[in-house]
Amino acid sequence: MFDRATYVQRRARLMDDLESGLVLFLGNPEMPANYADNTLPFRQDSSFLYFWGLDSPDLAATLDIDERRETIYGHDFTIDEIVWRGPQPKLADRAAEVGVPECLPREALAERVGKALLARRPIHVLPQYAVRNAVLLEWLLGIRATAINQYSSIALIEAIVRQRARKSDEELREIERALDITADMHLLAMHRARPGVYEREVAGAMHGLVAGSGVQLAFPIIFSIHGETLHNHEHGNLMQAGQMAVNDSGAESEGHYAADITRTIPIGGCFQGVQRDLYQTVVRAQKKAIEAIRPGVPFKKIHLLACRSLAGDLKDLGLMRGDLDSAVQAGAHALFFQCGLGHMMGLDVHDMEGLGEQYVGYDETVQRSPQFGLKSLRMARALEAGFVMTVEPGLYFIPTLIDLWRAEKQCAEFINYDVVERFRNAGGIRVEDDVVVTETGCRILGKPIPLAIEEVEGEAAK
Ligand code: GLY
Ligand code: MN
Repeated sequence: MFDRATYVQRRARLMDDLESGLVLFLGNPEMPANYADNTLPFRQDSSFLYFWGLDSPDLAATLDIDERRETIYGHDFTIDEIVWRGPQPKLADRAAEVGVPECLPREALAERVGKALLARRPIHVLPQYAVRNAVLLEWLLGIRATAINQYSSIALIEAIVRQRARKSDEELREIERALDITADMHLLAMHRARPGVYEREVAGAMHGLVAGSGVQLAFPIIFSIHGETLHNHEHGNLMQAGQMAVNDSGAESEGHYAADITRTIPIGGCFQGVQRDLYQTVVRAQKKAIEAIRPGVPFKKIHLLACRSLAGDLKDLGLMRGDLDSAVQAGAHALFFQCGLGHMMGLDVHDMEGLGEQYVGYDETVQRSPQFGLKSLRMARALEAGFVMTVEPGLYFIPTLIDLWRAEKQCAEFINYDVVERFRNAGGIRVEDDVVVTETGCRILGKPIPLAIEEVEGEAAK
């Protein structure tokens, strides 16, 4: 948790940014796994954390823009809850720590919202992703839970995105704390990944390191010799010499800021044959992208620059052909790089995705493209100082996609399908780092994690 002044300033800015009405924040409830009392690890809503700082279930808060009144709603533990779960600080004391003088029981929320509804005041709510909160809003507002997201406040979403997008120094320190743990996860994986070991043993060791550090994963671990599946959460394979494992994993800081790092590890200690060229191709694309990042440059341009770099090297390897600018414009490289170059990162690993990707990554200057590959680009708009971005190019040889494109003769003028056939089992390679956009360029966050071929091989051989 940050100092009280941080939360006071954040809420003051939000109130300044909105014209009038009542802003309603719902913290997250516990999420049941298989019955009500058997819950998934608790994760507070990120916007609730950002403005209210309190990290426990079943809280709500309102900001009355017109009265500039800030209120937290919740309850102190009953004696039964104390018996089963232990004592908790009083909610009023916790509210005071984040600069909120008014702390009311949960029932008062319905009364406050009811009064605003009767007075026909605007009520600003965010999009909901937790069913219980959607149902709570149905009860509070009289709008069907299934339709609730049609009534999200665009003004509120845009004001929050404006604020959360630029990271302060104290937020960057949190991200770098998450990156410290994440660096250890990646070194551990490089040391543990070897022939005869199951993926789950490495993934489990990383998860254990995170839990032992007293924090949570920022997202489910991707650790797989089938790195060509972009979000592969299976960990059942026995690793063999000559394979590569994609390790896309990251911890949260104590304050719930994310880290998101990917490295590709040669199983057996050395990249074999063409793996070396493919790996260098991906690292080169990442380097060019990072060098081009600066305020004012649309991230879509950085993405396309990385695609152009990948395509150039793929042409040298015989997989692509023809005029490369035209190839990238046609989306031919997306046979090998099917996703976007990166996303904003902060309190969420895909920062603010719950508010709607179009408000985070797109604006009036840039529309989402329907083209395969580009349609998965989460961030396209111009960069600003303080944005934290991931930069994660990759090459993914997906046999089903190769067969489909070949059968349909897609981009045949730019793709040498006979050569591609020889790579169909090459798997996947991704490298990913997190950068903050500075006034003049960008800075890679966290301590360096082995990336160059010889560094990764050196760790993998340890
Ligand atoms: N680290 C997973 C992702 O960026 O989607
Ligand atoms: Mn990522």
